[in-house]
Amino acid sequence: MKYLFILGRNSELSKEEVRAFMEKEENKILFEKKEKNALFLETKNPIKKEVVDFLGGTISIGEVLEEGTWKELFTKLDKKQIYLGESNKLNYLIWNFSEDNSYNQISDYLKARFRSEKLKATEKHASGFIKTQEGEEVRNLRSPNVEEEFFIFGDKNKIYFGKIIQKCDYEKIELRDTKKPVRRPELSISPRLAKILINLSQVKQDETLLDPFCGIGVILQESLLQNISVVGIDRDKKAIDGCKQNLIWFNFDKNKYKILNSDSTKINLAEKFSGIATEPDLGTILKKTPTPNEAKKTLEDFEDLMIKVINNFKKNLKPNSKIVFTSPLIRLHTGKRISCNGERISNATGIKIAPGFPIDEFREGQIVGRQIFVLNR
Ligand SMILES: C[S@@+](CC[C@H](N)C(=O)[O-])C[C@H]1O[C@@H](n2cnc3c(N)ncnc32)[C@H](O)[C@@H]1O
Repeated sequence: MKYLFILGRNSELSKEEVRAFMEKEENKILFEKKEKNALFLETKNPIKKEVVDFLGGTISIGEVLEEGTWKELFTKLDKKQIYLGESNKLNYLIWNFSEDNSYNQISDYLKARFRSEKLKATEKHASGFIKTQEGEEVRNLRSPNVEEEFFIFGDKNKIYFGKIIQKCDYEKIELRDTKKPVRRPELSISPRLAKILINLSQVKQDETLLDPFCGIGVILQESLLQNISVVGIDRDKKAIDGCKQNLIWFNFDKNKYKILNSDSTKINLAEKFSGIATEPDLGTILKKTPTPNEAKKTLEDFEDLMIKVINNFKKNLKPNSKIVFTSPLIRLHTGKRISCNGERISNATGIKIAPGFPIDEFREGQIVGRQIFVLNR
């Protein structure tokens, strides 16, 4: 099974999310290759329907239809039905993750092909470019209204051609985020990032995830949507009340969640959890860049908080579970970004940082961005 995952603006983080998701699903990755914001995967089993809804960092998923050198590819495609729709009018789009001149080859082929099939086919183009966090320019990920999206990936020795089969439903996500009764935009994590943290934790359906800094419950809501049971804790009574209202609004089964107004550095719980996913306090909201000493103090306070909380819940974590959390990534006036000392947290808790982490997650201009940590219990 060969697929192409078109990733969002932080493609390194999104790649790790896809890997963690596949491992959780026990779908072995046989081969992978990343090119800009596209991740090519060969998997042992077919992926499930609507996987894209579970992933926070994937825009679309495509399935490879044919592969080979250009000559081989066109010979194979000549024998294959490419457009399966019924209307004789077709708007389509081509994603090019191959060398630049490849685009013309496939574009010309499809034009000639659809003309020969008497289709009124029009190739549309994604509007403009966006910059990924890695600084690469990629085509705008929100594609115009089209009936079909095709892609090419690879190089002239082996080109993969395929079709997009699953697309992220932005509107649905935006609706559930903006329509819920209690919102706290300045402090809340986006549903997209919440899903990434949940997937990195690899907690499965019907297992229980802990969010010790749950706020108004975005991580809880996204977990419950995946049928994961949750326990949420926050020391702020107002946030807990808001969280309860939100989860009731979603109409989740009350047996699947427990919300506690308490201090996560002290509360003593008996339950066992399969993982933690959380966004702790990242320090005060800054309007201007802090001095190096102020930033250092924020980071040390953060480390102290995390050490206390992790040590408090260590006994509650099942073997092999993961602790996923965001931490502050602070921009100084020089433009340099500084982050907390993960080794200190790891040494003081005896829990190792997973290979490849932390990963930065920030937007240009943002004073406090994030680093994403995964620790392996
Ligand atoms: C960045 S917010 C979490 C946002 C959350 N993901 C949401 O969707 O609303 C951090 C939360 O941690 C809570 N908090 C800070 N220290 C805490 C502690 N020691 N125990 C429990 N909650 C704490 C704060 O009250 C705040 O609501």
